[in-house]
Amino acid sequence: MTLWGGRFGGSMSQETWDFTTDESDRRLLVVDIIGSIAHVIMLGKTGIIETNVAADLEKGLDQVLAEAEHGEFGFEKSDEDVHSAVERRLGEIVGDSAGSLHTGRSRNDQVALDLRLYLSRSGHAQVKGLGGLALTLAKLAEGHVATVIPSYTHLQQAQTTTLGHHLLAYAWMALRSADRFDDALKRIEISPLGAGAASGSTLPLDREMTSHELGFSEPMANSLDAVATRDFVAEYVFCCAQAMTEMSRLAEEIVLWATKEFGWIRLGDKVSTGSSALPQKRNPDIAELIRGRAATLAGDVAATLALQKGLPLAYNRDLQEDKRLAFHADDTLAAALPAMIELLENIDFDPPPPSSETVSLDLAETLVARGVPFRQAHNQVGKLIASLEGSGRSLNEATIDDLVHVDPRFKSEDLDLLDPEQSLARRVTSGSGNSESVLQQISEIRRRVL
Ligand code: ARG
Repeated sequence: MTLWGGRFGGSMSQETWDFTTDESDRRLLVVDIIGSIAHVIMLGKTGIIETNVAADLEKGLDQVLAEAEHGEFGFEKSDEDVHSAVERRLGEIVGDSAGSLHTGRSRNDQVALDLRLYLSRSGHAQVKGLGGLALTLAKLAEGHVATVIPSYTHLQQAQTTTLGHHLLAYAWMALRSADRFDDALKRIEISPLGAGAASGSTLPLDREMTSHELGFSEPMANSLDAVATRDFVAEYVFCCAQAMTEMSRLAEEIVLWATKEFGWIRLGDKVSTGSSALPQKRNPDIAELIRGRAATLAGDVAATLALQKGLPLAYNRDLQEDKRLAFHADDTLAAALPAMIELLENIDFDPPPPSSETVSLDLAETLVARGVPFRQAHNQVGKLIASLEGSGRSLNEATIDDLVHVDPRFKSEDLDLLDPEQSLARRVTSGSGNSESVLQQISEIRRRVL
């Protein structure tokens, strides 16, 4: 069924009809009905339609909602979109009075509302999922507060740190991603209803009432903005893409760590995949798919922006395409979060110790503490490493003579520093990788999520 037709003598060919309709909006069914119920209650209370008609419509919509929630709602091929389908079904239940449902409303404000309601619900779910990821990482980190590993820059060993510290970096990212959704929700949960097709209505619609009824903070101040903008969709898609991109980085590390060359982890059977050709293989497909799907979300962000960039105000049918992008981004993140959690829960970590050169900066800072300018200290330690390399030794094989040779201010107790564990214990800045800092971070992360 279409919600228009009075001015037309002929109808579209089937092919063109198929081209213009988009069944993906069927996912808005429940929120579309919820929005309509709020609208009808308002129409009745303001006296725009008779109270008994409003009551009939509300009762009919309650039935449609129950059907939708129980998966019993039947779409018809001839329904142009979800809004038309609901009005058709309501007509089947209540008869002609269904024609009053659309009073003071256009599909333009209706679809914007539906998407806001949908993303509001899914946004709250993503916040929970990201909190779950942060907690999983915190739990893993708790088992590795003292597991010494190298930190990396340029994928070269940099300083000593702990595995717990490394894992928590991703937990903090997940928490910020959750915060980002929370913040976006403030801009999603505002009501376009009452904006009509473009510039409002001559009927005294109570926009505050519907906004409040739907749990939104306020009606949008400008009707053109209300029906035209998809900034909230772009922001939502970005929130998904950023969260997915962070997981992609972690996924990439898992792929690397699982290699023979790195040898940091063993993937459990539950999260490994085999090869049809190579019997020895234990592949990290889950991580690779997370990494791969992150690429498609970057595409969704670009497409959501491109969709809006050339559109004159206010509503244009181009905007129908926003839903597929939003649903794709939302679904992909929602599916990736539990997959990543399960993957993390099935990894055994056993990283080799870092190379002793990762304490080089600590040695230089020891000299700084004795009054040597950093540049000079850096240079002396560089010379020490070069001379050890020249004699085929690594830093932990240095003697006090080697140290004093490059700088007389070195003392024999400085040899303790050559042990990566000692180096780490001496780290004093907040947020660094020593066990104390990692434990503090774990409790702060738990406090924020729980
Ligand atoms: N299916 C449309 C969309 O998703 C609903 C709004 C249609 N509005 C219109 N004026 N044709 O945007």
